[in-house]
Amino acid sequence: MIQRTFGGRFVPETLCTPLMELEEAWEFYRQDLNFQRDLRHLLTTYAGRPTPLYYARRLSGEVGCRVYLKREDLCHTGSHKINNTLGQCLLAKKMGKTRIIAETGAGQHGVATATAAALLGLECVVYMGVQDVKRQALNVFRMELLGAQVIPVEGGSQTLKDAINDALRDWASSVDTTHYVIGSVVGPHPFPEMVKDFQSVIGKEAREQILEVERCLPTHCVACVGGGSNALGLFYPMEKDPVKFIGVEAAGAETLSLRGEPGVLHGFYSYFIQDPWGQILPTDAIAAGLDYPGVGPQHSIYKEKGRAKYYNLSPGKALEGFSVLARLEGIIPALESAHAIGWLLDQRDELDSSSLVLVCLSGRGDKDVQLVKEALEAYHG
Ligand SMILES: Cc1ncc(COP(=O)(O)O)c(C=O)c1O
Repeated sequence: MIQRTFGGRFVPETLCTPLMELEEAWEFYRQDLNFQRDLRHLLTTYAGRPTPLYYARRLSGEVGCRVYLKREDLCHTGSHKINNTLGQCLLAKKMGKTRIIAETGAGQHGVATATAAALLGLECVVYMGVQDVKRQALNVFRMELLGAQVIPVEGGSQTLKDAINDALRDWASSVDTTHYVIGSVVGPHPFPEMVKDFQSVIGKEAREQILEVERCLPTHCVACVGGGSNALGLFYPMEKDPVKFIGVEAAGAETLSLRGEPGVLHGFYSYFIQDPWGQILPTDAIAAGLDYPGVGPQHSIYKEKGRAKYYNLSPGKALEGFSVLARLEGIIPALESAHAIGWLLDQRDELDSSSLVLVCLSGRGDKDVQLVKEALEAYHG
């Protein structure tokens, strides 16, 4: 039997050359002081970094331990996705590309890509499943306002997985002019590594900030997991520290916490929700950004090594997280991020007063209020 490591590059030949070119360019620019300076400048003056680390006093009282929120919801465009899109669009520009394509689920990555493309004067096309176009209509309009073309994807389950398929197909026929901005730590090498690098700014800042205010590291880091980029961005810089990592998946897309098995999709080897023949099964998460049948390879490694623990949360508990954060802290979270808050509420009996929990609040919830209104009405009649 072949023993595979997670990750890799399982792609048609047409994509091998552009992926190698991208790897070469990334290896160069990640060390290039000018590139790093330009990116830092954009992150600071345009995206609003560093984001605050906020002590959530009333939420802490509710769960019985100290809770800090890393406020990625305060980034320009409303989520952590901009950290990655600014980095990748800047890299694309250095590589001489004039056109950007992206996939999006919740629309946050699409908006962040359209934003970075507008800023840098690049043409932008975003693929989005028809189901997500409906449930994230506000973000579709935002992308269009930003000058992007949104292409609804009719195939398959009409969600993120199918949008990635179409984006990869587009890229295979347009590599000369086009860079594909993948939105999470997924896809063929070097995407997972590169996105991890761009998102690590979250954990680097959070580590420094918590040391400054608490004079110690957190006992737990908690983040929701779709593809896994906000979680990995928070975890990776604390990988060597004695900190427990908790990834929270959505029920219906519980890849690492329940249903996934190792396999290949979208050019990489990782855990996926699939049947015994390797056919990907449909997912049904309440949050569009978590509605993906796989996870980035680094999370599969963390799972197998026991470095991180993965849980899944029911829609009802995610909605509770959403409402509690709004009422106790005056922060309306993205439905994705509400899974991390919901986990905290769910585990309050397991956490004692010595716990110091750092939660990545990956995004803000404006895009979700209509959906949450309907879901709460359905739940409570
Ligand atoms: C606000 C927000 N949080 C989390 C996610 C999940 O992505 P990832 O697991 O890559 O952080 C998304 C995806 O769209 C999102 O919009």
